[in-house]
Amino acid sequence: MPRTRAFAILSLFTGLALLLVGGSTLALSDSRHPPDANTNQRDAAIHEHADDLMEQGRNTFRNDTFGSEGFFGAIGLHKAIEGTKFAGGVKTDLGLDGVSPATALAVGLKVDAEALPASLVTAVLNDQVDLTDPATTLALLKVNGVDPTTGEGNGAVVGVKGFFNSDGSLKSVGITCGLCHSTVHNLGLKTAKGVALDGIGPRLDGVPNRDLNVGLIVSLAPNLKPVADLLNSAGPQPGQPSPITADAVRGAIRTWGPGKFDAEVFMDGKVINPATGKTAPTLIPPAYGLAGVNMHTFTGWGSVTYWNAFVGNLEMHGQPGTFFDPRLDQKDKFPIAAVNNFGHISSTPDKDRITDKLAALHFYQLSLPAPASPFVIPTDSQAVKDARSRGRAVFEDVAKCAACHVPPLFTEPGWNMHLPSEIGIDSFQADRSPDGRYRTTPLGGLGSRAQQQGGFYHDGRFATLTEVVNHYNDFQRLNLSDQQKSDLVEYLKSL
Ligand code: HEC
Ligand code: HEC
Repeated sequence: MPRTRAFAILSLFTGLALLLVGGSTLALSDSRHPPDANTNQRDAAIHEHADDLMEQGRNTFRNDTFGSEGFFGAIGLHKAIEGTKFAGGVKTDLGLDGVSPATALAVGLKVDAEALPASLVTAVLNDQVDLTDPATTLALLKVNGVDPTTGEGNGAVVGVKGFFNSDGSLKSVGITCGLCHSTVHNLGLKTAKGVALDGIGPRLDGVPNRDLNVGLIVSLAPNLKPVADLLNSAGPQPGQPSPITADAVRGAIRTWGPGKFDAEVFMDGKVINPATGKTAPTLIPPAYGLAGVNMHTFTGWGSVTYWNAFVGNLEMHGQPGTFFDPRLDQKDKFPIAAVNNFGHISSTPDKDRITDKLAALHFYQLSLPAPASPFVIPTDSQAVKDARSRGRAVFEDVAKCAACHVPPLFTEPGWNMHLPSEIGIDSFQADRSPDGRYRTTPLGGLGSRAQQQGGFYHDGRFATLTEVVNHYNDFQRLNLSDQQKSDLVEYLKSL
């Protein structure tokens, strides 16, 4: 070896060694992570970081409104919630004078039982709380106090935050991720007089709220003009009502139904699918079981953190934040987003309310496990276990479902996107996304989803897993026997 090269290698090693020594001295002098006899310091720091992210991320997921109270204040949803008993409150066009807890629960909102003081729970169970009075809803939105500076109530309604005036009336409401992506464990509680308390229970983060009627709730707001203005902002769109009035928006979103929302409509203005003449919401998907999954949303807009930034900036209508996606400049595909520069949202680091939340939010979401299947119980009969294992063979070998739904992620490692023609469905929703494809849905927790209303595929077009299997059987000409189909369904329910 020539001398110069040997020297170079030697000095490289010396440099490395110095760097290592330097690094460990640095770690030793870090007072946040005192030496621990049992653990390597770096490991301890990593654990601590993970705990911090978990805590912050959970808090953001559950409690951060991302400034959405600005938008909801503008459309006046709070006025409909409080009703005419409060100054400024209104009666809705449906004749509803204020949203009582009974009404709120009926439209799918949930109450976190663990955020209720024990005395209140007792009072509710003893029929001492009027659940038909909108004033009780306001009380629930500030049951654990009101922040004196911001007026934000610390309440118990999952995913909804009240913002209060000093006289106790509502100034606005804001929403959090938990509104759609959390629900509660239904305890089946009843009051002494037998009033069912469905929708009050411990919070379940990540489980989609398929009871929640987002469209109906938003339609109660007295002033939907800002929504109509946004939808009209790019001028007439082919196949769409134009200009769309506030009342037409109200009517349209009322047809969405429970468990659904249209996250793309504020990008492309496609209030209705011209082919069907109907609105085109998608199901609210689970926010669990997403670790290891590359592309997210039904049509693969991006990663989890891409979509979190998208939602924080563009869906919660919060401000200010930063969001960059030049794909939204395509005028033909995303007319509303393009004309409003949605792909170029910028803020300054001191004002940005969103960017500093993204790392922890991402971490928390990826840590949400898919729930265990309620269909798998240790005492299952041998016949059921046999059906499940035959079903697995159908899934993996006979029908080759596992070619796309690769266990244990049940989606493809890598670019998990497919053309509509590969799965035998129409391209309407895929065409509303940058990639024009559908993302292979990860199937973890499918067993518990099978118990929920809403159906399967992005728009819930198949009501049952049997319908999904029949679709693949017809489309791919699998020639599965009835036995194979039912075995396959039994296996899917176990995921
Ligand atoms: C109004 C209801 C609603 C709220 C509030 C909401 N989401 Fe969603 N979320 C949806 C819907 C609907 C989709 C499906 C969108 C699609 O595929 O086009 C979705 C999709 C997602 C996905 C993709 C899941 C998957 O299967 O890949 C993630 C991640 C997500 N949302 C995170 C969030 C976060 C974080 C927040 C809060 C900042 C939030 N969402 C707030 C309704 C909501
Ligand atoms: C070519 C890839 C591919 C193959 C093969 C495939 N799938 Fe899918 N699967 C997808 C895609 C993409 C979606 C999303 C469709 C949508 O949301 O509209 C999906 C969705 C599903 C869903 C709906 C999940 C939900 O929560 O809505 C189920 C269930 C499912 N597939 C089961 C199967 C079974 C069973 C087979 C085998 C008979 C199979 N898949 C074969 C790509 C595939």
